[in-house]
Amino acid sequence: MFVSIYVYGLLQLLAACAVSAIGLIEVANLADLGEDYNCPGGNVYFVAHPVDALLYQNPDLYHDLHTFKCTTVVMLTAGDRGVKDTNFIDSLERGLQSSYNIMAGAPVNQTGWDGVKVICGDALITLRYPRDAKGLLLIYLRFPDGGSDGQGYKETGQVSLKKLYESRIQNITSTDGETTYNLDGLKHLISIILQWKSPNFIRTLDHITPIAKDGEYTAEHADHSVSARIVHDVIKEYKIPGHVTSYGGNLIRNFNITLETQSEDFSVKVRAYLEYAQYDKDMCKLYSECFKHSGLMPKEVPDDVKYTVQYLDREYYVT
Ligand SMILES: *[C@@H]1O[C@H](CO)[C@@H](O)[C@H](O)[C@H]1NC(C)=O
Ligand SMILES: *[C@@H]1O[C@H](CO)[C@@H](O)[C@H](O)[C@H]1NC(C)=O
Ligand SMILES: *[C@@H]1O[C@H](CO)[C@@H](O)[C@H](O)[C@H]1NC(C)=O
Repeated sequence: MFVSIYVYGLLQLLAACAVSAIGLIEVANLADLGEDYNCPGGNVYFVAHPVDALLYQNPDLYHDLHTFKCTTVVMLTAGDRGVKDTNFIDSLERGLQSSYNIMAGAPVNQTGWDGVKVICGDALITLRYPRDAKGLLLIYLRFPDGGSDGQGYKETGQVSLKKLYESRIQNITSTDGETTYNLDGLKHLISIILQWKSPNFIRTLDHITPIAKDGEYTAEHADHSVSARIVHDVIKEYKIPGHVTSYGGNLIRNFNITLETQSEDFSVKVRAYLEYAQYDKDMCKLYSECFKHSGLMPKEVPDDVKYTVQYLDREYYVT
């Protein structure tokens, strides 16, 4: 069954953004993107990589698509794992859209997606939404993946959100080459997005667990803990209202299972993940194959790849 996601709420005016010439639609600023994008209230998810919400914030994500009817997911990095290839990054983004089609109840590939590039302050960001479910919006910032320990990858210049957050580097350029961000610029952009969406619920990854040290591969992924801290800092500094929830990431693999394998929640979570995985060369493509990944890989391999099967039957809040 396809569950329609209706747009509601008034257009909220915000003058900080304008659309670039290469956008698919022409509007003067974020607010002028019109009803297709605009549904204040609901939820804004912030994750580090495209796959994160599927692994760590699901089935909540699935439930939100159906109940709150206004869901935005902001992805800070491209999730490239050091692969400097825009085709790979495009593939991950297409996989994610297919996966969301499944959670929204639409037959895969039947629902087309629209996208637009928007100039927001000093940044040029990509927004996408499914034509038939316009309360859902994906926002891609496309920072380079920083790797598990946040040292960055050689291929992408050894940069990471962790190094930016810890003032070890001054700026980072997005993988699409469109924007160079410093930490204040990134925070300002996040504040613009939050003020525009004015969500009732803000959902982040784990902002409490210590940030992985260089060379520490068994900790929470540095992109997870840093992206969450940056969002929590913005909420505090810009006095953003809303209920904030943080989700456990890599470390939940050690905790008890929370999803019954007979449940619809588990079944949808697995199907949504497996759809995405078809587009991601590194991730296991069959549930049985995911079992074999655990523990058999070099230490630098990110935990989302190694312990996928453990994430599929767990979801935890961090308080
Ligand atoms: C959906 O479309 C993409 C791109 O056209 C294609 O690569 C993929 O195999 C399709 N997926 C399914 C499940 O049909
Ligand atoms: C980025 O930081 C480097 C120093 O690390 C500096 O030379 C460069 O001018 C900065 N670029 C921008 C666009 O701020
Ligand atoms: C995990 O499960 C075991 C066995 O069912 C139980 O004894 C234990 O209390 C659980 N731990 C937590 C943290 O819920």
